[in-house]
Amino acid sequence: MYVCVCKAVTDSQIKTAIENGVCTRKQLFQCLGVGGDCGKCNKQVKELLGGQDRRQVDLPPAQNYPVFNSIQIEVPA
Ligand code: FES
Repeated sequence: MYVCVCKAVTDSQIKTAIENGVCTRKQLFQCLGVGGDCGKCNKQVKELLGGQDRRQVDLPPAQNYPVFNSIQIEVPA
């Protein structure tokens, strides 16, 4: 089924892109062009992305990043 009529992009194409690591609407626009014209497909594209903010990346605890451990902050008395 076509999701983006303007760019003739189907839900299958979008799902395949997501399975291959595309995780934001911006990235879908960059690789498939969806949402760049009239924008009517944006709601469905967002639904296909799962409605979650996939831009958040799960990072290991801060102690694994030496730079964070070396920052010292002086707090005025
Ligand atoms: S339907 Fe996707 S930009 Fe128009």
